[in-house]
Amino acid sequence: MELLRCIAALVTLVAVMGHPDPTLDQHWQLWKKVHGKVYRHQVEEGQRRATWEKNLRLVMLHNLEHSLGLHSYQLGMNHLGDMTSEDVAELLTGLRVPYGHNRISTYRQRGGAPDAMDWREKGCVTEVKNQGACGACWAFSAVGALEAQVKLKTGKLVSLSTQNLVDCSMMYGNKGCSGGFMTSAFQYIIDNNGIDSEESYPYMAQNGTCHYNVSTRAATCSKYVELPYADEAALKDAVANVGPVSVAIDAAQPTFFLYRSGVYDDPRCTQEVNHGVLVVGYGTLNEKDFWLVKNSWGEHFGDGGYIRMSRNHSNHCGIASYPSYPQI
Ligand SMILES: *[C@@H]1O[C@H](CO)[C@@H](O)[C@H](O)[C@H]1NC(C)=O
Ligand SMILES: *[C@@H]1O[C@H](CO)[C@@H](O)[C@H](O)[C@H]1NC(C)=O
Ligand SMILES: *[C@@H]1O[C@H](CO)[C@@H](O)[C@H](O)[C@H]1NC(C)=O
Repeated sequence: MELLRCIAALVTLVAVMGHPDPTLDQHWQLWKKVHGKVYRHQVEEGQRRATWEKNLRLVMLHNLEHSLGLHSYQLGMNHLGDMTSEDVAELLTGLRVPYGHNRISTYRQRGGAPDAMDWREKGCVTEVKNQGACGACWAFSAVGALEAQVKLKTGKLVSLSTQNLVDCSMMYGNKGCSGGFMTSAFQYIIDNNGIDSEESYPYMAQNGTCHYNVSTRAATCSKYVELPYADEAALKDAVANVGPVSVAIDAAQPTFFLYRSGVYDDPRCTQEVNHGVLVVGYGTLNEKDFWLVKNSWGEHFGDGGYIRMSRNHSNHCGIASYPSYPQI
């Protein structure tokens, strides 16, 4: 019985993997070298190679279509080129909307938003981080929004500790590397009366025990504000007048993690959000409105760690479904 199951599994595996294309051998070696990929054994390498070839075909055909004027963005074989959407959803996202989440938006639009905005130019955005194989996107999104508020208030740009949030905010419904939500992170910082600096409490990409230390506190938070559901005009107003805003998106499409440049717009993107990121600006590129989004998958992702996502386009990827920002 066990043996039969084993053989069946092997047959499926071979069918799924197919045969690697020998003309791509050299490119596979090159890509592995550039991204420092090491696999545990042949079977794993075979699976990764098959996924990589599938992604490579997607990238090449998409970019061909882009050159024919059919897309507003290009793809590229980045360090995630050997992953499936399932791998990405399991390892690299980690957003959990709290059960029964009920928003009462008190946000009032200020008006006067310019046509374009980029908080990086105002020195309010820290370098791009890498969450690694830990579902702590929610923590990176939350600290990014607070870092900008600290900079606006004190003039100092300091990276805040995501590990502090991973280790210490369980009571607020967060599950460390197994997921969380930005407003739950803000609520922890409010109740804890602070969050440590990244330098004093560095990121480990795994669950740990809480060791918050008030003497290395780098920020406080007095409240947070949620924006009205799917209101992209309100999101634009907040990004223009308040600062970077934490948002939730659907990041599960292969086109998302293989994005390279341009304005991301994939009709398959859904409203089912699974990833926490940070809107740090907006604008228009080749007549397409976009949100400028800071991700936490390192600088090799997208355009130096950032992605421009379609704006004012029916709440594309759910980007305006759960926006929130903290106040000091
Ligand atoms: C991290 O800790 C949370 C809360 O204790 C737990 O639910 C989760 O399973 C842990 N995740 C990992 C990857 O260890
Ligand atoms: C907290 O940080 C201070 C300054 O770095 C250090 O002297 C102190 O021992 C720390 N406290 C604990 C409990 O680790
Ligand atoms: C969004 O697009 C519509 C037309 O499709 C336009 O009337 C509206 O002003 C735009 N809103 C923003 C915030 O750009």
